[in-house]
Amino acid sequence: MANYQALRLALALKAFPVALRAAKVPDLELPDDDVAAFNLAPADAIALLERWQDWLSAQTNGERGCWQQRVQQQRLEHLGLAAFFVQHDTLRVPRVLAPITAHYSWSKGMKLLGLGRAQLALLPQREMRIDIDALDAELQRCRDTQQPVLLAVGVFGTTEYGTIDAIDGLVAARDRHAATGLGFAVHVDAAWGGYLATIFRNEDGSLRSLATVRESFQSFPSPAVHAAVAALGQTDSITVDPHKLGYLPYGAGAFICRDQRAMALLSEEADYVFHGATPKDYLSRYRNLGQYIPEGSKSGAMAAAVYVTHKVLPLDHRQFGQLPRQTILNTEAFHLRALRFAHEVADNAHALVPFAPDSNLVCLALNPRGNRDIARMNAFVRALHDELRCDPTLPLQFKEFFGSMTTLRPDTLGAGETARILEALDIDPASLGAGEDRDRLVILRHTLMNPYLIDRENDISYIDRYFEFLTRRVRVHAAATS
Ligand SMILES: Cc1ncc(COP(=O)(O)O)c(C=O)c1O
Repeated sequence: MANYQALRLALALKAFPVALRAAKVPDLELPDDDVAAFNLAPADAIALLERWQDWLSAQTNGERGCWQQRVQQQRLEHLGLAAFFVQHDTLRVPRVLAPITAHYSWSKGMKLLGLGRAQLALLPQREMRIDIDALDAELQRCRDTQQPVLLAVGVFGTTEYGTIDAIDGLVAARDRHAATGLGFAVHVDAAWGGYLATIFRNEDGSLRSLATVRESFQSFPSPAVHAAVAALGQTDSITVDPHKLGYLPYGAGAFICRDQRAMALLSEEADYVFHGATPKDYLSRYRNLGQYIPEGSKSGAMAAAVYVTHKVLPLDHRQFGQLPRQTILNTEAFHLRALRFAHEVADNAHALVPFAPDSNLVCLALNPRGNRDIARMNAFVRALHDELRCDPTLPLQFKEFFGSMTTLRPDTLGAGETARILEALDIDPASLGAGEDRDRLVILRHTLMNPYLIDRENDISYIDRYFEFLTRRVRVHAAATS
């Protein structure tokens, strides 16, 4: 819902200056033509919205209502996409640029909003992080063809691999292209990784330096991850899920915008009209949440739980940040242990961490030694995963460990990375094809949310125990495969 809200808000803000022009509102210094109006940078569009609100509140009561209605009737939300683009035939339906690793909610959102899935451009990645050069090339192409862009999306903690996009690169691209007349917003999907930012925050909210954050870890964060966190405050909006690394039950989601003034454009009441109508004070305004969100009334219980949690454990490194800190320490231990495991099982299998983790999610690719066929490798990993997943016919306690799986697809990976991973696993590239279980690589996926994986007091490492378990199971299944 938060990702959908980002799309809705960006579209409302993008189309609003066009409506002001169509309504012929005087005195506002409107852009010269529709193309310029549709391509304003979000900050300029918000400044224009403010000027309109001020202008409107200076009108007499009667005039105010007339102008309000006149603009309302020109808005995309009133006309609908079809009539809006017929009326403004120099404009094209805007595109959303997202990395190929983006969550499926983006596809849903494009369909819901009526923009169409075809307007979602999925950009290539490098080691599961957005390829900023490809983004830049696509933006350049959009500029050259007068193709408007609604949003550039970055993922802060990809669903399947936990990798973090160069948010700083997205922000720099936004600012560079805005200066050439291609305005768009940057949204960060930090549903998974948002709470990791607490590791990087001082109690006063300021950013901790790379060197200071690193003091707690072996190698986390990479300079790229630190730069991505540093840029979060310059993005236009962010999605964060309390039910992921916020450790809260389902039922609350967060949509955060840097400048909430544009939210008035989503209101079901025309509250952007003048200041008296809606409280300007943030908390009083959003008490009527149903005015601004796709849903209507809903329970506040989970939101209250999030609020209390953040009061008890404020979102800085000394307090809430202790939790993700432990999980990153566990991830570092897990990663190191995975490398040792690869060495230990080398006689039985090839094992590879395909991407160095940026967050507490580590994947592991495995292939029994001697096997060069992708379908057999996939069957081997699926058999391992069968031992790691819940079995509805058995009590959970019968399982020693839980883990999930995902896949790597050559069309997502690109030729270079596909070749690198196949080679490391000793898989024959010719066995990759269109057939059953031959078009992707099945891998194990470990989300290390539990901060207690290493019990230092009792000298127990559940990470060691997991790899001992996995070693045993790899040996059994490798013997069965050969
Ligand atoms: C990056 C990302 N975005 C969005 C979502 C959607 O979250 P939810 O399933 O809570 O709606 C997820 C969930 O895995 C995610 O990882």
